[in-house]
Amino acid sequence: MKLMQKVEAGQKTHWNDMFTQNPAFFGDEPSGFGRSSLDLFRNEGVRSVLELGCGQGRDTFLFARNGLGVTALDYSEIAVSIVKEKAHTAELASRIHAQTHNVKKPLPFPDSSFDACYSHMLLCMELSTLEISFILRETHRVLKPGGLVVYSVRSNFDKQFRTGIHLSEDMYKIGGFVIHFFTEEKIKKMAMGYDVLEIERIEEGSLPRDLFVVTLRKAACLELSSPLSRPGG
Ligand SMILES: C[S@@+](CC[C@H](N)C(=O)[O-])C[C@H]1O[C@@H](n2cnc3c(N)ncnc32)[C@H](O)[C@@H]1O
Repeated sequence: MKLMQKVEAGQKTHWNDMFTQNPAFFGDEPSGFGRSSLDLFRNEGVRSVLELGCGQGRDTFLFARNGLGVTALDYSEIAVSIVKEKAHTAELASRIHAQTHNVKKPLPFPDSSFDACYSHMLLCMELSTLEISFILRETHRVLKPGGLVVYSVRSNFDKQFRTGIHLSEDMYKIGGFVIHFFTEEKIKKMAMGYDVLEIERIEEGSLPRDLFVVTLRKAACLELSSPLSRPGG
């Protein structure tokens, strides 16, 4: 097995272990980012959300309880089984469809399937810049015209940036987790095919984590809307 494949397998096992040991690893309450995204989804008339890296579903359930249909993906089988069980217990199984999926692979959905794509701290996991660009191309494909991508990532202002073991790019292994830290410039460069509506910084958790929260809108044309392809972009 090549080194990065080993790292990937190790990360998945690590997440499975964390979710097995702690039934609410990120807490029982929805995240602040989830709540503000719900407001945006309401204002935009979003009905269907694809969530990448749902974990134990703290935001999945917020969206579903508020009437949205959520397709929730995670590569952790433990996370997905927890979300499925909780959805059944909460009688929300008709609104929550959870399935295992590694986002390094093509999304298993037809083009133009969703109104929005949401991910909270998924893109800053053990994913290279190339893999993140691939994911954003896939979300572009499965979004309906004008659909939204709303995501959060750990920022280069985070106090854990450049700590732990350096792996590659801006990726570090810290306390067992591989984290890819983002600059604002990187976010803009990777927004190919989207209009950048907002990039903000927030803090979350007791650490606290310093996050960029990003709102993109699928643009009609992949190339022309890239900030890099615009004069002066
Ligand atoms: C930082 S946690 C965030 C979980 C959830 N979004 C939340 O905020 O509660 C990252 C999640 O992404 C999942 N994940 C990491 N790499 C993944 C990959 N390549 N494909 C799918 N899921 C992945 C992990 O299993 C974990 O549930």
